[in-house]
Amino acid sequence: MLRWILNDTYTSSETSALGARTGVVPGYVNYAQDSDACLVFVNALAGEGADRTELYNADQDTMVKTVADNCNNTIVVINTMGPRLVDQWIEHENVTAVLYSPLLGQNSGKSTLDVLYGEVNPSARLTYTIAKNEWDYNVRVYDTKECDFTEGVYIDYRYFDAYNITPRYEFGCGLSYTSFTYTDLNVPSIEALSVYPSGKKSVGGPVDLWDVIANVTVSVTNTGGRAGAETPQLYLSYPETAKQPVRQLAALSGWSWLAGRGRR
Ligand SMILES: *[C@@H]1O[C@H](CO)[C@@H](O)[C@H](O)[C@H]1NC(C)=O
Ligand SMILES: *[C@@H]1O[C@H](CO)[C@@H](O)[C@H](O)[C@H]1NC(C)=O
Ligand SMILES: *[C@@H]1O[C@H](CO)[C@@H](O)[C@H](O)[C@H]1NC(C)=O
Ligand SMILES: *[C@@H]1O[C@H](CO)[C@@H](O)[C@H](O)[C@H]1NC(C)=O
Repeated sequence: MLRWILNDTYTSSETSALGARTGVVPGYVNYAQDSDACLVFVNALAGEGADRTELYNADQDTMVKTVADNCNNTIVVINTMGPRLVDQWIEHENVTAVLYSPLLGQNSGKSTLDVLYGEVNPSARLTYTIAKNEWDYNVRVYDTKECDFTEGVYIDYRYFDAYNITPRYEFGCGLSYTSFTYTDLNVPSIEALSVYPSGKKSVGGPVDLWDVIANVTVSVTNTGGRAGAETPQLYLSYPETAKQPVRQLAALSGWSWLAGRGRR
């Protein structure tokens, strides 16, 4: 049975969204103790004209911990724009899963259930690093209109790599209900480029900045028992003399592979 706990502070004499109260005083603890699985949703205020003001929220973390203390199958669903720290409860033995689903739009409810019930295999990857602590990031949450980007190119994972900071979940992290193997990786040798792009200016820079200079190919095979999509990532490292980040995401690719079939 799916029940929604909207507010922990109702007392037995009040009427809540759950209907008239019976003798039992409801609350996270009672509901959690009485459930086989508990879904806890956390979010963060953000939007146009309302940037994020925090990377975690103490009240929400207390809610997750209270439910987890009383429910041995606590699943946390995070709907935030950008990173949300999880270290207050991620090691709690009763937190059995975390579904990181940022802004899902009008089908957020259906898509969340599809993934939780296994109708759909999750195949996304984190587009930012989840740190263990907010001070592990090299910039703070900004509440001014001006961001100076003094960190240069050392944004997100490039900073964690450069300073050897272990994150909680790395940029590009993503889990799956099935498994994939990568074989036949083919990386052509690339001659050092000494020319700067000089083409016509377009969105993102001169058009020839986006010329394909090499094709890297790999065969990806779904070796698990379920259909699922995989998103291979290609990272590039430059020689040390280039004074560039340790590695940089250069390309992403994503197709669907059916279980036991398909090989590209
Ligand atoms: C929760 O319910 C209490 C008691 O009815 C109310 O005072 C409080 O404002 C509610 N909190 C939220 C977040 O809705
Ligand atoms: C996990 O949940 C069970 C109830 O199912 C509870 O008895 C136990 O104390 C919880 N574990 C922790 C570490 O809170
Ligand atoms: C939770 O506890 C119940 C009752 O002890 C047990 O049957 C169930 O397997 C446990 N679930 C998990 C996810 O540990
Ligand atoms: C990369 O592959 C595309 C499509 O097969 C091909 O048109 C292109 O010439 C290749 N480019 C290089 C540099 O190998």
